Amino acid sequence: MNAERPRILSGARASSPRIHIGNYEGAVKPWIDLQDDHEMYCMIADYHGLTTLGATPPDLGYWSRECAKDFVACGLDPEKCAIFIQSRVPQHAELHLILSMFTGLGKLERVPTFKEKKDNLGSDQQVSYGLLGYPVLQSADILLYRPFGVPVGKDQAAHLELSREIGRSFNSAYGVDYFPDFYTIVSTDESRSTLPGLDMRKMSKSYDNCIYINETADETAKKIMSAFTTPSKMKLSDPGIPEGCAVCQYLRLYSPNWESQWNEDRQGLRGCVQNKRELIEILNEFLRPMRERRAQIDDAEIERILADGTERATDFAAQTMREVRQIMRLA
Ligand code: TRP
Repeated sequence: MNAERPRILSGARASSPRIHIGNYEGAVKPWIDLQDDHEMYCMIADYHGLTTLGATPPDLGYWSRECAKDFVACGLDPEKCAIFIQSRVPQHAELHLILSMFTGLGKLERVPTFKEKKDNLGSDQQVSYGLLGYPVLQSADILLYRPFGVPVGKDQAAHLELSREIGRSFNSAYGVDYFPDFYTIVSTDESRSTLPGLDMRKMSKSYDNCIYINETADETAKKIMSAFTTPSKMKLSDPGIPEGCAVCQYLRLYSPNWESQWNEDRQGLRGCVQNKRELIEILNEFLRPMRERRAQIDDAEIERILADGTERATDFAAQTMREVRQIMRLA
């Protein structure tokens, strides 16, 4: 790996055994765009997946390995990018513990995602210490690699700000300039970073409104045929409102003719079924090479990729921990 390249760390929480096109557009595609010119570490955050466990704990190892297969199928190149699973690099847990000493409780309680998740928990479920500490673990993920930048969705901005603050507290406690003020890299293309689900809510497994990379063309077609369009457009000649129509939102990203399709939709010159048919064609074509590649990646191949990624991540993380221990004068 070329040491001259700016270093990038990013992560995705393990929350499902497969990724949807919203994950692709919002996270994986930006990583792929960075991989040629940066030293990249891409992590599957399985510990973070444990912070909101449901009634039955999932097979997180299976989820993580399947997601890694999706990443590679999408075009993340394991030669250019260390792809690894968080819990296989024990330094993440070690630095998390140390950084927890530099994190004020009040700050954690004010993090917007914490408040949200807390409110979403049923009354019989407790808020765990781990859920409160979610951003501390994320800070450890980041600071271990002392990165130049961290590409994330907008919703992660507060976590990243807290990570910088935690790094600064550590630096000032020991009078060092060790952890960097890394950049937050956010996509400026809103339509990609906030791709809606089939029902126009946020695309999310829990809403059952996702198009997955790893599903068949027929499954995708069926979902699009029943996707949400303009509610007031009952017949072809009724005017559509493309801004509020999931099918039009996807056309905008994947169809070279989206502008004329939107115009005709607005003017009542085309029906929703035509939009859907054209989208099915284009989207399945776009996903076809990823799906073909995905079908070829077996357990042995992903295991080799993850073992290599773990080794590269561990090399870096272990060096950081040696330096941290020295700075802290731990025995
Ligand atoms: N919290 C991030 C998310 O939900 C996932 C994540 C964990 C992460 N550790 C990270 C992202 C470190 C960037 C850097 O998407």
